[in-house]
Amino acid sequence: MKTKRYNAVITGLGMYVPEKILDNAFFERIVDTTDEWIRTRTGIRERRILEKGATSDLAAKAAEDLLKTKNMSPDDIEVIIVATVTPDMFFPATACLVQNTIGAKNAWGFDLSAACSGFLFAYQTACSLVESGTYKNVMVIGADKMSSIVDYTDRNNCILFGDAAAAILIERTEDNLYGHRGSLLKIDGSGHDALYMKGGGSLNPPSHETVDKKMHYLYQDGKAVFKVAVRGMADISYEIMKKNNLTPDDIAYLVPHQANMRIIDATAERMGLSKDKVMINIDKYGNTTAATIPLCLVEYHREGKVKKGDKIILAAFGAGYTWGASYLIWGM
Ligand code: UT7
Repeated sequence: MKTKRYNAVITGLGMYVPEKILDNAFFERIVDTTDEWIRTRTGIRERRILEKGATSDLAAKAAEDLLKTKNMSPDDIEVIIVATVTPDMFFPATACLVQNTIGAKNAWGFDLSAACSGFLFAYQTACSLVESGTYKNVMVIGADKMSSIVDYTDRNNCILFGDAAAAILIERTEDNLYGHRGSLLKIDGSGHDALYMKGGGSLNPPSHETVDKKMHYLYQDGKAVFKVAVRGMADISYEIMKKNNLTPDDIAYLVPHQANMRIIDATAERMGLSKDKVMINIDKYGNTTAATIPLCLVEYHREGKVKKGDKIILAAFGAGYTWGASYLIWGM
């Protein structure tokens, strides 16, 4: 069955990171940790923190950066998908708030919740909307204000996360040489109790008790997640390579979710890729959840390191569990 009428290609990029930096020395002062432990166990040196405002502010700034760079009117955006686990509020969707802020008066849209795989799932969704011919363009924004759900007394987790947003525009093209080639995406809800935020939803509506029990913070069993993340991200990245008959020489870049440098290294090793073929900025931003992959794409593209025709694999693993990989040929 032929479901693809057009090719979907990334044609626009934007990003926003807040100014305030929390370095490892800051965490040495507030919890029992060391710069050395954080660097060697995670690869993180700094993260950005949004002092005032919410996720929609981060997302809108990334969207505005994209529009300005592309010299595009917000009127021309057809769909906005915001991948996030830190929406401004349960409803309305962050996509609505972003639409209003940037004045995209002809767009519809929605939020997508898949934690650290959120961008990847939103990217595939957007490509499908464009490939079917239903829409000419979709803006995908990965945005998270992780500092709003991090317990800064929990040394296991507070050192890991930062705030950021990045946006891509996906457009249709009849040119078959560039663009999205396909994804392998998975969920496994048996991992729901290893990484979650239990309070505030219909299971545990907000109460004094949920606050006292710190249920409005992110909880992670780091060791358990680490084991499945290493295997999950490495295996699926290898699988998408094989499925598309790609050798390590064919691939210009792996763009991995930035949760832990050791998970990234294991994935690159399984794929047979040298370090210069892996996009990395975890040292500067930590884990920004839905923003990590597009943030890498924007930075590397702006540094002139990505060129038209480059074969690129995106890969992520996150809460749920959710994970996956996408293969695309760069067309900008
Ligand atoms: O993005 C979504 C998916 N999430 C991930 O992929 C994250 C996966 N997990 C990880 O990246 C790692 O498991 C962490 C970075 C969270 C932890 O690293 P680890 O090497 O797995 O450490 P661990 O949890 O096994 O802890 C080792 C030791 C423990 O002490 P004991 O029990 O051996 O005495 C921890 O209490 O390190 C201790 N520890 C710390 N020490 C100094 C934990 N956090 C810290 C800290 N500073 N911040």
